[in-house]
Amino acid sequence: MKLAKFALACTLAFTVANAEDVMQKSMSMMEKGMTQIQQGFLNNNVELIKQGSILVKDGNALFSDKKVIAKYLPENKKHLTNVAATASERIALDINVLELNLDDKAYLNAADAYSDMLNACSRCHSIVRSW
Ligand code: HEC
Repeated sequence: MKLAKFALACTLAFTVANAEDVMQKSMSMMEKGMTQIQQGFLNNNVELIKQGSILVKDGNALFSDKKVIAKYLPENKKHLTNVAATASERIALDINVLELNLDDKAYLNAADAYSDMLNACSRCHSIVRSW
């Protein structure tokens, strides 16, 4: 019995640790990607913008599932899971808009999509952090 409980505790601890990794990986990929995109716009380096957008896209994909998102919301914010997930959907859409505008050399519109994406980051963080 004791052993079974211990095994269960280990499994739970492992699951939690693993889930934490997903969030940290996703966030650090998106942070790096957003920095690259910003540098790309500031220095007129389209390649860097493209590189950054791939990082944000892949990072966002890791943290878009409602079940995963819900795990990271504080107890009193779990009911806002859908709102938080909307921020992730918005990032995915913005990335598309950004890439299409880059292809069209419509850099101002692409920069707008970047700004909207940054707002979407804050949207979800404001829920998580009670800003
Ligand atoms: C759907 C919700 C959600 C979205 C969207 C989101 N984040 Fe996060 N982010 C979190 C959570 C949850 C944490 C961890 C709790 C905290 O730091 O307050 C976090 C933490 C972070 C951290 C700190 C990482 C750490 O290890 O503590 C960074 C950096 C970050 N996010 C970057 C971003 C960027 C950049 C974007 C937008 C491109 C973004 N996030 C969008 C939920 C989100």
